[in-house]
Amino acid sequence: MALIPVELAGRSYEVRVGTGLLADAAAQCGKLLRKRRVPVITDANVASHWKDTLAASLEAAGHEPRFLVLAPGEGAKSWQVLELVMDWLLAEEVERGDHILALGGGVIGDLTGFAAAILKRGCGFIQLPTTLLAQVDSSVGGKTAINTGAGKNLVGAFHQPALVLADLAALDTLPRREMAAGYAEVIKYGILGDRAFFEWCEAEGPQVIAGDKAAQEYAVTESVKAKARIVAEDERETTGARALLNLGHTFGHALEAQTGFSDRLLHGEAVALGMVLAARYSARRGYIDDLQAARIASAIGSSCLPVEIAGLGLNCDGATLAGHMLHDKKMDAGTLPFVLLRDIGEAFLDRAVSLEDVAAFLDEQLQAR
Ligand code: NAD
Ligand code: GLY
Repeated sequence: MALIPVELAGRSYEVRVGTGLLADAAAQCGKLLRKRRVPVITDANVASHWKDTLAASLEAAGHEPRFLVLAPGEGAKSWQVLELVMDWLLAEEVERGDHILALGGGVIGDLTGFAAAILKRGCGFIQLPTTLLAQVDSSVGGKTAINTGAGKNLVGAFHQPALVLADLAALDTLPRREMAAGYAEVIKYGILGDRAFFEWCEAEGPQVIAGDKAAQEYAVTESVKAKARIVAEDERETTGARALLNLGHTFGHALEAQTGFSDRLLHGEAVALGMVLAARYSARRGYIDDLQAARIASAIGSSCLPVEIAGLGLNCDGATLAGHMLHDKKMDAGTLPFVLLRDIGEAFLDRAVSLEDVAAFLDEQLQAR
């Protein structure tokens, strides 16, 4: 098992990566579970595979797990489901010193984390991430949120978990498409800040998606280390370091908005396409050369991820896509900072990008074959 500390003054915690952590959850959580009753929030897909494993561990340690099983999907990050969750937690008499377990992907983690942030002005929670995306990204760093009619993740809070248990066994039941989508966030760490890790991904990425446990452990551990370093440096995204984690997200967000935030394009797939676009746009701006952009596209494409927006059948022009960016929550006093590349492994924030130029670039990309 790998142990990665997330160092934050007054609220440091550990991310543990290994196989079998859900079956050992009671011992792993130890004194964080201070009462007999333990509230667990999950979704129906995850529950069908992992509820019994978690329940057995908790029951063997004398706990009484109490499960709230939600419908799977992004729809759970809503006011309506949040209200249901809050009412349930209050009925369960969860107190500020208790810890709620979030068993699931990024949807369950974001929703549970936000519920924990506002329940009685803040109670504890533990992340039990079951998707690759959640293990390498969303369970670490304390961003929690729900969506509203105005957009994704617009209502939320920074609220750090007390512990993260990333059980690689959970990935064995994850659909292949979800695995590939999560892998986009893995290779992102290499592209934005670690050339050697990018090169490892070029060679081993397909093994991660195929289920090789050693490759998965290395990928998750290195990703979490990178995220922990960045979060410790810039927890609230104020200095710019954490903003680099948004590589591919501005382009990706526009693609998700155009496809209605639906299963037509998963978040990780949008990030994959977004990183290819960010690399090509970096080449257009003269920061990297076309060969580097092509190398990034090739590494992403060889990992079962899409790389050409022309193949999406979007039926819109570049200006429409650029228009979605105006509603990006990273908009800052009328400018939208773009994460671009000076090299593979060297991302930076470009605050001087014109959305007209981005629209023209996207028109070319929409027509490319
Ligand atoms: P998800 O939680 O919807 O999970 C994807 C699908 O896989 C769901 O159908 C789920 O039921 C299923 N699933 C989960 N684990 C499984 C398992 N082990 N076996 C079988 N099926 C399983 O999606 P996600 O990709 O994990 O997360 C996406 C969400 O994360 C988005 O809402 C996004 O905004 C958020 N996010 C948050 C952060 C952050 O820093 N907080 C970062 C990135 C993404
Ligand atoms: N997923 C981006 C962040 O945590 O900042």
